[in-house]
Amino acid sequence: MANLWSGRFEKGMDKIVEEFNASIFFDKRLYDCDIAGSIAHVTMLCEQGIVSKADKEKIVETLKEIKTEIQNGTITFDVHDEDIHMAVEGILIKRLGETGKRLHTARSRNDQVAVDTRLYAKREIVEIIEVLKYMEHVLLEKAEKYNNQIMVGFTHMQHAQPVTVGFHLMAYFQMFKRDIERFIQCYERTDYNPLGSCALAGTTIPIDRHRTAELLGFKNVTENAMDSVSDRDYVLEILSNASICMMHISRFAEEFVYWNSQEFSYISIDDSFCTGSSIMPQKKNPDMAELLRGKTGRIYGNLMQLLTVMKGTPLAYNKDFQEDKESLFDTVDTLKKSIVIFAKMIEKTEFRMEIIKKHLDKGFLNATDIAEHFVKNGMPFREAHEIVGKMVKYCETTNKDFIDLTDEDLQKIDSRVNNTLLPDLTMEGCVNGRVSYGGTAPKEVLRQIEAGKTWLGGV
Ligand code: ARG
Repeated sequence: MANLWSGRFEKGMDKIVEEFNASIFFDKRLYDCDIAGSIAHVTMLCEQGIVSKADKEKIVETLKEIKTEIQNGTITFDVHDEDIHMAVEGILIKRLGETGKRLHTARSRNDQVAVDTRLYAKREIVEIIEVLKYMEHVLLEKAEKYNNQIMVGFTHMQHAQPVTVGFHLMAYFQMFKRDIERFIQCYERTDYNPLGSCALAGTTIPIDRHRTAELLGFKNVTENAMDSVSDRDYVLEILSNASICMMHISRFAEEFVYWNSQEFSYISIDDSFCTGSSIMPQKKNPDMAELLRGKTGRIYGNLMQLLTVMKGTPLAYNKDFQEDKESLFDTVDTLKKSIVIFAKMIEKTEFRMEIIKKHLDKGFLNATDIAEHFVKNGMPFREAHEIVGKMVKYCETTNKDFIDLTDEDLQKIDSRVNNTLLPDLTMEGCVNGRVSYGGTAPKEVLRQIEAGKTWLGGV
């Protein structure tokens, strides 16, 4: 069949050009969005008296047939189809002749690809939010279970202060909460109908863009035709939100890797998420956590790719934009899978509290508590800090811990300190005392968990 623009041309495309130009092998996944867009478009054209009712009915019916056939694999595509828009319209025309040729009235592939991509993006954003919500459920459940379990809190990878495992997990809950919020906001900006913008400047034909918006479930209509066909911000927002989300996943995955190491042994990742070694029989490697960390590079790459594609393109549509799709598809596929796999892995992970407990003895995790205790007794913080610093040094040189310090030791360090002045130095005492809003005290973390549940129930 001659292609759909053959009027202006004397010869067809060179074979290698045709292959280079085609996007059908990846944009075929937009088929149902494309058909939904066409059905809404022809319905509106009919309501506006631009296409007859009989023609509209034939077109809608045939488009539905085409959709089913693509779905069940009876229609397959080849390079001559070029892209999903040409493919579907080509089949329609083959089946309906002149009637089929009426569909592409007051429409261009430029607004068609924009509407398809927005419909697809909206659906995918909803799915991404769903899997993130599953992740949040898993985190809330684990945080609740480990809310009274104490572990080392680090800064600079050095022992800092004791925290609860629940508190640590709730930190990730907050990150994924922001990810969900970002995707919700991005959904709102994607929810604009570009259809009817035509090639770049609108049309002389009396269409109703608000009606197609309504038929397609768009909340809004894009304001400017030229912007509508050249805007890929919503794709970029998905890619950047995905990048931030993968960064969170990657940080967490990194913690899984070292928590799972021989040195830490804080957790033991379930066998079903690990692999063995082809040479070392004893090995059980945290491959999934590493792979999640690795996939992050791929998602960042997709974002950089599309930002770079877009940066030099003048208004309005340019073929460069066809390069948006593989990045988008790869990103949503990778992101959704990563979230689900990680959530399942967390669900199956238990913390080895007997080992974690042993790590709490090292590193003077309760030093800040002593300083804060002195402050509560009237000492300026900087002086308290100085005295506790000396206590640490004394303990290190005498190989003692804070609780081993006698009155005599303390007097040597600073005349203002004695044993009765020391606070509850147990890890429980330290953790329970951190009741400031957002702190690690179990009762405060419980508040965070409850607030998290309320929020999650409302998204
Ligand atoms: N396959 C094209 C894309 O993905 C569809 C739009 C083509 N428009 C055009 N005027 N060549 O961007």
